[in-house]
Amino acid sequence: MDQHLRKKYKKIMEKVLIITGGSKGLGLGIAKKYHKEGYRVISISRSKIEKLYLFEQYQCDLSKSESIQPVITEIFSHLDRNNTSNLTLINNAGDLGTVNTIDQISSANIAYTIQVNLTAPLILNSLFIKLSKDWTCKKQVFTISSGAAINPYESWSMYCSSKAGVDMMTKVIAKEQKELKHGVSFVSIYPGVVDTDMQTVARNTPKENFKSVQRFIDFYEHGDLLSPKQVAENIYNLDTSGELKSGRILDIRNT
Ligand SMILES: NC(=O)c1ccc[n+]([C@@H]2O[C@H](COP(=O)([O-])OP(=O)(O)OC[C@H]3O[C@@H](n4cnc5c(N)ncnc54)[C@H](OP(=O)(O)O)[C@@H]3O)[C@@H](O)[C@H]2O)c1
Repeated sequence: MDQHLRKKYKKIMEKVLIITGGSKGLGLGIAKKYHKEGYRVISISRSKIEKLYLFEQYQCDLSKSESIQPVITEIFSHLDRNNTSNLTLINNAGDLGTVNTIDQISSANIAYTIQVNLTAPLILNSLFIKLSKDWTCKKQVFTISSGAAINPYESWSMYCSSKAGVDMMTKVIAKEQKELKHGVSFVSIYPGVVDTDMQTVARNTPKENFKSVQRFIDFYEHGDLLSPKQVAENIYNLDTSGELKSGRILDIRNT
């Protein structure tokens, strides 16, 4: 074997995960798990964890639509399509929004929550497809949705609407990509009830603003919350099991 070929076969192909909201909560759990499994992990969030060298961190406020393209373009400029075997995007960043009935919520908060939870994943998916168009490796997008997509909780109008929206986003784009030679696979995942800041916000909302608050206090008091680490392991196992067929909307609790 000549030197060139030897070099070629020795080259280790990179598995890449781009994740939004890797700075805390479920996203941090997923980022750590994929890193442990040998992935190059790239996170996009507003804040940055200091002295954390396990993965690359890009700062971006996903509510500012115009700031998404420069960041994702920059990330792709540092990737090598000839040296990548697996390219995954996880739309994980999310915001519960103000918890209250819709008449009590400001227009600015309505717009912000929809931008983070729905507009940003749509933009990221669009750019991911465009920028990886000629990539021949395995390409997939998971979006962290929620049971709130199908269960109407009073005082969560933006959250429920945006999660219902990302599920439809997944179904439509999965169809668009299906017939393409190097298409991207799209899946929505309901992670269950996870012990993160989002749950703290939900159970600390005054009862007069959130009728279902006791349900969330009970999850916590009865020890029903899953850890980000457990959920990250479930997601990774599903990813590698081949069960995540494009177009699927999957509730982790039913797997
Ligand atoms: N926790 C649950 O029980 C539960 C259940 C079902 C679904 N989920 C979903 O799981 C995902 C993760 O939620 P979590 O529970 O881990 O919440 P979390 O602890 O509040 O974390 C949210 C993550 O999103 C990022 N983020 C929020 N707003 C952002 C913005 N404007 N720009 C960029 N990044 C932003 C945050 O990073 P920065 O603050 O650094 O920007 C953080 O990393 C969400 O999509 C959520 O809807 C959670």
